Amino acid sequence: MANGLDLAVFPKDFVFGAATAAYQIEGGVHEGNRGESIWDCFSHTPGKTYQGHTGDVACDHYHRWREDVELMAQLGLQVYRFSIAWPRIMPQGRGGVNLAGLDFYERLVDALLDRDIQPFITLYHWDLPQALQDAGGWPNPELVDRFADYAVAVVRHLGDRVHHWITFNEPWVFAFMGYFTGEHAPGLTDLAAALQAAHHALVAHGRATDAIRACGDAKTQVGIALNLSHIDPATDSQVDLEAARRYDGYLNRWFLDPLFHGRYPEDVFSLLGDHLPQNALDDLIGLPELLDFLGINNYSRAVVNHQKNTPPVDAAFHKPEGASYTEMGWEVYPDGLYELLMRVHRDYGPRSIYITENGAAFPDVLQPDGAVDDQDRIDFLRAYTFAACRALEEGAPLKGYFVWSLLDNFEWAHGYSKRFGIVYVDYATQERIVKRSGHWYREMIEGQ
Ligand code: FCB
Repeated sequence: MANGLDLAVFPKDFVFGAATAAYQIEGGVHEGNRGESIWDCFSHTPGKTYQGHTGDVACDHYHRWREDVELMAQLGLQVYRFSIAWPRIMPQGRGGVNLAGLDFYERLVDALLDRDIQPFITLYHWDLPQALQDAGGWPNPELVDRFADYAVAVVRHLGDRVHHWITFNEPWVFAFMGYFTGEHAPGLTDLAAALQAAHHALVAHGRATDAIRACGDAKTQVGIALNLSHIDPATDSQVDLEAARRYDGYLNRWFLDPLFHGRYPEDVFSLLGDHLPQNALDDLIGLPELLDFLGINNYSRAVVNHQKNTPPVDAAFHKPEGASYTEMGWEVYPDGLYELLMRVHRDYGPRSIYITENGAAFPDVLQPDGAVDDQDRIDFLRAYTFAACRALEEGAPLKGYFVWSLLDNFEWAHGYSKRFGIVYVDYATQERIVKRSGHWYREMIEGQ
């Protein structure tokens, strides 16, 4: 349904917010006894990020969090998804808890609640303590226990006020881009290591979920945020159809099947399963039924064709001509979000779904009059929220939407060259300037 302003209209209890992640916005990397993370190490390694950019300062949110919470209140956000930096809580990844780190997040949570903004906390958004990477990183099964210990330390402290917990952000990305393609920290190129990393993240999700429940209360909800995409074959040839199916198995079903069915998808397991740890299948048995909600991060669809000798599943991306693309080179394809939501609902039946990330990078310009006129982002968000609303009306159990991102920030290997915020950050002065899309988003929320 649309209103007179051509905005999608959602049910009254639907929540709108924005998402960020610790390493992308906080800065303050040496403050409050924070330990080193794999992203500190990776971004300081020559050649790994755009022009050598690092998260050392980022949006300086570590010092400006009060101002940022005010900004969220002005935008009318009802929920805010942020992540906790593990190396602030346990600088070496294990052992005693660093109270200065917990205090920072406690103040942030209290400020949000004062402004009636409900926090959704992601426990792991890629900033593994470097000490744990030195011990082997996610391919090491010991990390399952380390992660559960860390989760308990945080939930014991904040669980009375925070009800929504997301164990992992995008395990596919940090496992396969971190350990196989090497584009992300820790920058390894070993397929077996990536599969083991992904497996241990799933097991750690299960272990942490049980632990969070044990120290949370009746209101505690636990989920995970997956990067999922609708996938189309580039042509309707048999080989492309099969490649698209394999890619779907690798990107989507590799996580959805274990989380909802307690097993890996057979087609891709037959290709990659040899790299998994022994008894891997037994580890998955308890996973189904654990999720209170599924978080879906979605930006685009994938169009895929068959390409021989393209590991790991002989499939490659194809860019349809005539389509429009964001500055990341990602196709603007709102129907893909609709298709994805309906498919996840149909095939897996999650109790609740939140869109935990959706948004776009465009080459924003701060004009001399101080405005940022990002019509392209408004068009993107309008089309994607309409697609989400359509899925909701057709039965998908969608409960909320988080725009990526509140602020322009450190976009991983792209450094500060890509701007996703609905608020512009002038990195020279750290001034925040609400873009036109931010004003649009506030009106959209008000109109509900
Ligand atoms: C997702 C990440 C998020 C951000 C967006 C653009 O993969 O979860 O941190 O970088 O992409």
